[in-house]
Amino acid sequence: MRWIALTLMALALLAVSPQPLLAQTAPAQPQAQAAPEAGAPMGRTSATEAEIFRQIRQGVQGTVSIPDKKAGVLVQSEGENWRNIRNGPLSTYGAWLLLGMVVVIAVFFAVRGRIRIEAGPSSRTIERFNAVERFAHWLTAASFIVLALTGLNMLYGRYVLLPLIGKSAFASLTLYGKMAHNYIAAAFVLGVLMMLVLWLRHNIPNAGDVKWLAQGGGMFGKGKHPPAHKFNAGQKLIFWSVVGGGAVLTVTGFYLLMPFDFGMGIHDMQKFVVWHAVVALILIAVIVGHIYIGTIGMEGAFDAMGTGHVDENWAREHHNLWVAEVKGERPQHGHD
Ligand code: HEM
Repeated sequence: MRWIALTLMALALLAVSPQPLLAQTAPAQPQAQAAPEAGAPMGRTSATEAEIFRQIRQGVQGTVSIPDKKAGVLVQSEGENWRNIRNGPLSTYGAWLLLGMVVVIAVFFAVRGRIRIEAGPSSRTIERFNAVERFAHWLTAASFIVLALTGLNMLYGRYVLLPLIGKSAFASLTLYGKMAHNYIAAAFVLGVLMMLVLWLRHNIPNAGDVKWLAQGGGMFGKGKHPPAHKFNAGQKLIFWSVVGGGAVLTVTGFYLLMPFDFGMGIHDMQKFVVWHAVVALILIAVIVGHIYIGTIGMEGAFDAMGTGHVDENWAREHHNLWVAEVKGERPQHGHD
């Protein structure tokens, strides 16, 4: 069967090619040397046929008279390598990364518990994010969550959802999920751009960030609160991951929407799929940690993005230099 299929493909290639395929550049090998190799034809063939088959499997492009020149490639063997990477190490390491993040959070929660406002809630609040800042955050957050879920479905859905909901439901879900992914990406790009404009000046690294990181942000023990301005070093890392990761996802995602425009071919597209997935998986893991600390992980944190106002004691414990700036006080240093 395979021999017949390969012969048909060879004939098709010869039919679309006005010149003998690469006959000048690659002389035919003597039959005795036609060692069996991946993609080599089975059965008895002439040396010329064997060479043609080999070239087909190597993706050599023949000449076609129709406008779509890609049709000159009969077998794109790199697709097999790419598929093996995508469905092999990429999916496996990605799954370990996400599971690993969940385990780290569970262990952290078991050991450290919820990070409390140590001085207890005060009766005063202070504005942390205005309506525009919160809009930018929730636009980014909501769109990212849809993109993450629909993207994860493209990578893992066939193993996780398909057995649960069956072929027909999975096919519709994946089709609409893919459409949502393509369109909602625009909202994510807008949200990230807004956050970039609004918060860039608060996210420039400084010497205090090194000290904050050296003390683990004071998160691993009680009574330790390294000084911080509006955003501490941990938050700056999240910010730059979102901006940097968002930029890579936007560029690669944009090309994947129009794979054969801009002079790019199938190989570029395959590389972009891998980069898009690797960066997305890393960013999802980072954001899982961010969502934990912004909700159950830390008392008083959610209000910052909920109402926009935080408890003053929370603010003094986690962002003392920022409170001093906002209130026009003399900057205090963190109490270790
Ligand atoms: C349910 C999901 C989410 C919750 C509950 C949440 C919660 C929060 C909170 C409470 C803050 C303010 C922290 C503070 O006052 O210091 C914040 C900040 C921020 N969030 Fe989210 N967030 C969520 C999802 C996301 C997503 C999906 C992204 C981006 C993809 C994101 C990006 C950011 C960034 C860049 C900041 C500023 C830096 C930082 O505080 O880490 N958030 N978030």
